[in-house]
Amino acid sequence: MTSQLFSPITIGQLPLPHRVAMAPLTRSRAGQPGNVPNAMNVEYYRQRASAALIITEATQISQQGQGYAWTPGIYTAEQVEGWRAVANAVHAAGGRIFLQLWHVGRVSHPSFQPGGALPVAPSALPVPGKTFIVDADGNGVWGDIPTPQALTVEGIAAIVHDYRVAARNAMDAGMDGVEIHAGNGYLLDQFINSESNHRTDAYGGSIENRARLLLEVVAAVTSEIGAEHVGVRLTPMGRFMGMGDAAPEATFPHIARRLNDASLAYLHLVEPAMVGTVKDEAADPRWDAIMRRMRAEFRGVLMLAGGYDGASAERAIADGRADIVAFGRPFIANPDLPRRLKTSAALNIPNPETFFGGTAAGYTDYPALA
Ligand code: FNR
Repeated sequence: MTSQLFSPITIGQLPLPHRVAMAPLTRSRAGQPGNVPNAMNVEYYRQRASAALIITEATQISQQGQGYAWTPGIYTAEQVEGWRAVANAVHAAGGRIFLQLWHVGRVSHPSFQPGGALPVAPSALPVPGKTFIVDADGNGVWGDIPTPQALTVEGIAAIVHDYRVAARNAMDAGMDGVEIHAGNGYLLDQFINSESNHRTDAYGGSIENRARLLLEVVAAVTSEIGAEHVGVRLTPMGRFMGMGDAAPEATFPHIARRLNDASLAYLHLVEPAMVGTVKDEAADPRWDAIMRRMRAEFRGVLMLAGGYDGASAERAIADGRADIVAFGRPFIANPDLPRRLKTSAALNIPNPETFFGGTAAGYTDYPALA
């Protein structure tokens, strides 16, 4: 049987030679000071240019959008130059790359916030979880997340503007497009899920209202750089960082339907049990029905991620559940993952101890096939 995983597909106007994408992966190794992509980051992405599409690690759109130590940004001139070197290297190696746009919302710490302010959120609710901060000696340590401040409507408008500028910056840096990170318990997800959004204004309450910020961000970014350059990532039913929705079977298909109006390059969904870095719970039995509803509602290209191997990815495409499959941890350990999947070669095993922060060890030293 001919492989459908290794058949071409076009997203927006960008032809991809196959369907093995690299999932967005935070590695916390941006150059300091300034969270600027450096030569080691360039080398890491260059090594992985055989992906159908690289989606970069989540990249903060503003200082306010940062929640973890040493993650890169896309809001200063130095960061744009740093990302330009990454995009150039990936293109020179024959690849394609979208930059993932990130605002963490409440998953942050005053040490990252302008003026040491409290992190921002839809509602001032406590956050179950910790974030990775830098202590006085410059070491990374886990820190408690304080109860955030609820955003004003002006504060929301300023964030939509920051997304627009960040998308423009990404294109100026030579990216092929951007992926709007609307999952994993970060800002846009915090608005979507009823558990974290207790607002009573136009951004809370009904499904329409809870989806409003995402749709405003999509509208701003697509009008700025063109819808064919924009993807959206959602993690329906993910529980990471205190997410939860009263009626996910209504909320997420609604969003998939509303995103049709935008004519996006793709919609990217993550299997709910795999949203965090570990498989921490069984998938909700409602997920399969929700995923199929979203597939039916969304008329564009659908990407799936979360726990795939070559065989299950091939099946997902053959069964019509997905058009593209993104691989996370396998791409950390296998810079030449598409070739290995295509030839059924053995895979290097990723080492979780070197996922976040550190040096070239566990980052650029995983071997490719000879
Ligand atoms: C992630 N994931 C992730 N997701 C995202 O949207 N933005 C990000 O920056 C990150 N960062 C990240 C770092 C690390 C070290 C891991 C392991 C995961 C989630 C990732 O994209 C993917 O959805 C999961 O890893 C599940 O896919 P795999 O690893 O089973 O193929």
